[in-house]
Amino acid sequence: SVYGQDIVCATNHTFLDGVVFLCALQTVTGTLALSVFTAVLGSFQFGYNIGVINAPQKPIPSSTLTTLWSLSVAIFSIGGMISSFCVGVISEWLGRRKAMLINNLFAFIGGGLMGMAKLSRSFEMMILGRFVIGAYCGLASGLVPMYVGEIAPTSLRGALGTLHQLAIVTGILIAQVLGLESLLGSEELWPVLVGVTVLPTVLQMVLLPFCPESPRFLYIIRSQEHHAKSGLRRLTGRQEVGDMLAEMKEEKRRMDMERKVSIAELFRSPMYRQPIIIAILLQLSQQLSGVNAIFYYSTSIFQKAGVQSPVYATIGAGVINCAFTVVSLFLVERTGRRTLHMLGLSGMCGCAIVMTMALALLDSVPWMSYVSMLAIFGFVAFFEVGPGPIPWFFVAELFSQGPRPAAMAVAGFANWTANFIIGFGFQYVAELCGPYVFLIFAALLLFFLIFTFFRVPETRGKTFDQISNTFSKHSPAMIDMDLDMELGKHSTELDYLGEEGS
Ligand code: GLC
Repeated sequence: SVYGQDIVCATNHTFLDGVVFLCALQTVTGTLALSVFTAVLGSFQFGYNIGVINAPQKPIPSSTLTTLWSLSVAIFSIGGMISSFCVGVISEWLGRRKAMLINNLFAFIGGGLMGMAKLSRSFEMMILGRFVIGAYCGLASGLVPMYVGEIAPTSLRGALGTLHQLAIVTGILIAQVLGLESLLGSEELWPVLVGVTVLPTVLQMVLLPFCPESPRFLYIIRSQEHHAKSGLRRLTGRQEVGDMLAEMKEEKRRMDMERKVSIAELFRSPMYRQPIIIAILLQLSQQLSGVNAIFYYSTSIFQKAGVQSPVYATIGAGVINCAFTVVSLFLVERTGRRTLHMLGLSGMCGCAIVMTMALALLDSVPWMSYVSMLAIFGFVAFFEVGPGPIPWFFVAELFSQGPRPAAMAVAGFANWTANFIIGFGFQYVAELCGPYVFLIFAALLLFFLIFTFFRVPETRGKTFDQISNTFSKHSPAMIDMDLDMELGKHSTELDYLGEEGS
C-alpha cells in the first residue's frame, strides 16, 4: 500500500488483485476470525433447518404427510418473514451482538418443540416449532450479514460476507446427510434430527461474550468512542486505529445531519429509493431463481427426472452447493459482486432451459435423466457463484449506518416472502406445468440478469460511505458511478492493509 494507486493502475490487475487479497487475509486477527465464526453459527442453523425438511417425510404416517410437509415448509418461511421485518428495530435497540445472543432463545424453544413433538404425539408442536425456528432464522438472516459486514475490513467484506452463505450451505448438507434413513432420518430417531439444532445454539451462546460488539454500531449509533476504539483494536490487532475512526466520524457526521431513517423513508427519499429497489430485486433474484424448489423438493424432482437414487442425488446437490460457495468466496474480492452475480444468473438460466428440454424428452430418450441431473447440479453450482451469497451481504454494503437496519429488514422481508411463495406454490405450479415449470424460472432469471446489468453497481473495495455517496448523486449517475468505482477501487482496497497505508 506504500506504493499506492498509480502502481496498481499501471500493472496487471489480476495479479495485483491476488496480492491485495492475500495481504488482506493477513489482517484477519484471532478476534475477527472468532467473531465471524461465532456469528455464522446462526447461518449454519438457518441452513440446517432448510435441509432438515426433507428427512422427516418418510417416518410420519402418510395420511398426514402431505399436509404436514407443506405446512411445515410454509410456516417456517412465515416465521422468517415476520421476524426478518423486525431486524432493524431489534438490532438498533439491543445492538448486533446482544440481538444474536437473545435470538438463541427462539432456537431453544423451536428445537425443543420439534424434538418433543413425537414424544407428545402432537404434530401441532412440530408445526409450532417450525414457526419458532423460522423466526430464529429470519432474525439470523439479517443480524449475521449486518454484524459481519460491519466488523469486516473493506478489502475482505465480500469474502467474509460469503461465509454467511457458506455456513448456510454447510448446514443444509449436514442436515441432508444426518437425515439419511440409516442415520437420524428413521422412524425412531427423527426427533433427534430436528432437535440437535440446539447444539450450535449452545456453542454460539458460549462464544458470543468473547466477541466485540460492532464498533460502527458503538460509535456511529451509540456515540461510544472509547468502546468502539477498543473493539477496533481487538478486531484489527492494531493500536493505532485513528484512520478507521476518522472514516466512521465522517459517516456519523453525515448521519447526524439526516433524519432518522424509517422504512417508509427508504422509499420516500430519492437518495435511498434506488439502493432499496436494488436490494429488494437482488433478494428476489435469489429466491425467484427457483433454488429452493430444488432444496425443498429435490428428492421428488430427482425421482421425476428418472434418477435412480434420488436421496443420494440430493446429497450430491448439497456437496456441489458447498463447493461452489467456496469458489465464490475466493472470487468475490477479485472478480467483484456484479460480474459474479450476472455469471450465476446466466448460468442458472441456461441450466433451467437444459433441464426443461431433458425433462420433456425423458420418455423418448432414457439417458436424458443424466442430462437433467447434470443440469440440476449446474443450476445449483451457478446459484452459489453469485445469487446465493451475494444478495445477503450486498444489502449491508449498499447502505450506510443510518438506513442499514431498516434496509436489512425490508430486504430480508422480501427474501422470506419470495421464499414462502416458492415453498408453498412450487408443487402446485409444477403439477400444472409439468416438465415446463423451470421455464418460468428461466424467464425470471433473464429479467434479473438484465436488471443487474443496467442497475446494480460494483461495491468491491469501497467504504460504506463511498458507496452511499454514489447514490446521493442522483441518476443518471449510474454511468458516473461505475466509472468512479473503477477509479477508486484499488486505492480503497488498500486502506485496511496496515498503518503504512494511511
Ligand atoms: C440461500 C437462500 C436460501 C437457500 C440457500 C440454498 O441462502 O437464502 O433460501 O435455501 O441459499 O443454498
